Amino acid sequence: MFTGKGGVGKTTCAAAAAQHYADSGPTLTISTDATPSLSHIFEVTDKQKPVQVLPRLYISEIGEREIREMWDKKFGREVYEVFSAFVDIDYESFVEFMTSVLPGLGEEFMVDYIREMARKGVYENIVWDTAPLGQTLSLLETPALLGNHLRMAPRIYSRLKLGRRSREPVLDILKRWEELSAANMDFLKNDVYFTMVTIPEALAVEQLEGAFRELDKYGLTVKQIVINNVVKTEESEFLKIKVRQQQTYLKHIYEKYSNLKIVELPMFPQEVKGLQKLREVGKILFQGGI
Ligand SMILES: Nc1ncnc2c1ncn2[C@@H]1O[C@H](COP(=O)(O)OP(=O)(O)OP(=O)(O)O)[C@@H](O)[C@H]1O
Ligand SMILES: [Mg+2]
Repeated sequence: MFTGKGGVGKTTCAAAAAQHYADSGPTLTISTDATPSLSHIFEVTDKQKPVQVLPRLYISEIGEREIREMWDKKFGREVYEVFSAFVDIDYESFVEFMTSVLPGLGEEFMVDYIREMARKGVYENIVWDTAPLGQTLSLLETPALLGNHLRMAPRIYSRLKLGRRSREPVLDILKRWEELSAANMDFLKNDVYFTMVTIPEALAVEQLEGAFRELDKYGLTVKQIVINNVVKTEESEFLKIKVRQQQTYLKHIYEKYSNLKIVELPMFPQEVKGLQKLREVGKILFQGGI
């Protein structure tokens, strides 16, 4: 999983890593990005999902519609049963609300989806290009929170109008949802290799600490940092200044995260697009082995 703040190069790294993995076995790159950046970077226009880009490389961009469909199939009715016990809402509006209003739900769903794909074993590697994780992780806790709350306040809920449902079946549903979230969290803890992507600039470095803390709170450990957009040449006054400025932040990252594998990715004069350029990025990312 490649995570990090907006625009730092997550998709670039994910795409390059996927291409690298595809050399040795079937690989899926998956993204929940609202804008189709994976197909842009791989220069494909095919709308089919997943799209094959190389003999062993597939990409899948999951949009809001797909998330809604998958959510509906997997959790929709069950979770609706719980919510509709408290709130008067019809099913359509409920799904609409869950999938578009709740931030990070797409990602939460993706954890489940990816876990299932991993279990099926069709792909040797799955590379996930993701948004910042905080919201996703807190959503994974929602069922547990709800469950605790319900268990701790039976008197309040016994007075609620639960329609045809008694409190017990509602608790059962919540329990199943809770177990599913726990399984997803376990999957994140045990089977996912986290790479944090950042750039050597003040804001990105400042936000890095928070991102690590957030993951740490859930017992998830980042194994690697990619510092992207590192300027390597000092051929002009402009570049000299840039290099000097970046050095402060690079030093900070190396000192603070000395226990992690750190890879630097140079800033290229051109944007990273297409298989050839991605191959170059992949070589740098994996030079010391991931
Ligand atoms: N090392 C690099 N050198 C030059 N250009 C780069 C480099 N890394 C990324 N880029 C360019 O920067 C832009 C943003 O990169 P990318 O889309 O990978 O970031 P992102 O973290 O996925 O962004 P978002 O948060 O919007 O999903 C792209 O146009 C990409 O080609
Ligand atoms: Mg991206």
